[in-house]
Amino acid sequence: MTNNHPALAIDPYYDGVPAYMTEVYDWAYVDPKWVRALDHNWVVRVLLFLNDQRLMRAYLNEIKPGMRVWQLAHVYGDLVTRAAEKVGPTGAFHLTDVTPIQIEHGTRKLAGMDWTKVIRSDAAAFVGEEFVDYDLICSFFLLHEVPDEKKFEIVDHMLNSLPKGSKAVFVDYHNPAKWQPIRYILNVVNHYLEPFANALWKNEISSYASKADCFTWRKRTFFGGVYQCVVVEHKP
Ligand SMILES: C[S@@+](CC[C@H](N)C(=O)[O-])C[C@H]1O[C@@H](n2cnc3c(N)ncnc32)[C@H](O)[C@@H]1O
Repeated sequence: MTNNHPALAIDPYYDGVPAYMTEVYDWAYVDPKWVRALDHNWVVRVLLFLNDQRLMRAYLNEIKPGMRVWQLAHVYGDLVTRAAEKVGPTGAFHLTDVTPIQIEHGTRKLAGMDWTKVIRSDAAAFVGEEFVDYDLICSFFLLHEVPDEKKFEIVDHMLNSLPKGSKAVFVDYHNPAKWQPIRYILNVVNHYLEPFANALWKNEISSYASKADCFTWRKRTFFGGVYQCVVVEHKP
C-alpha cells in the first residue's frame, strides 16, 4: 500500500525554509546541488567584484581572540573558518542559518573546532540554550537578501541582543555613486535576481532599528559606495 502521508513529500532540504528563500534564492542557497557548486572562495570574489578580502577584513579585524561571536548566516568560501580561527579556543563562535544545506556546509567547515556551534535558526529569532552574551554580532551580506519586514526584525533582534560594550557589525550593499559603473550592472542584477537589495540603496541600516537613537552608527563605504560596513555600539 502506498503511504501518502504529506510528511513524506517534504524534502528535508526544504523543510522549514522561509518562502522568500525558496521563491527567490532556491538555486543560490537552498538546492543542495547548486550550493555544492557555489560554495567556493572564487564565487564570493566574483560576486563582490574582487572586494571580498577587504570586506571580510572589515569584519575579521573586529574579532579579538577569546571573543564570543555570533555570525547570523553562513557565507560561501572560507569566511566562517577564518572568523572561527581568529576567535580561537578561548572564545566562542556561533553560526546560525535558516537553511539545512547551509547548516551542513557550515558544520563541515567548523568540524574539530570545539569552541564553535552551528545552529539552525532564523537570525531574527535566535535564542535558546546556545545564546550567550556576545562581544560581537555580525551580519555579513544577509540584510540585502531578506524582505524589508525581515530586515526590521533582524536588526532589532541583533541590537536587542547586544550587551553594553559589545559591537554589531553589518557588511552589505549600499547606494553606489553615480559615477561607479558597477551601479548600473547591479541595477540590472537586483531587478532580476535580488529584489530586496535595492532597499539598502535607499535606506540607511539604522532606519531598520526601532531604537536607533540609543546607539552610535559608524559607517564606512567601499568601492565607490557599492558596499558598506557599519559598526554599531550602545551610546555611553
Ligand atoms: C549571508 S547571505 C549571502 C552571503 C554571500 N552572498 C555569500 O557569498 O554566501 C546567505 C545566507 O543567508 C541565509 N539566510 C537567509 N535568510 C536568513 C535568516 N532569516 N536567518 C538566517 N540565515 C538566513 C541563507 O540560508 C544563506 O546561507
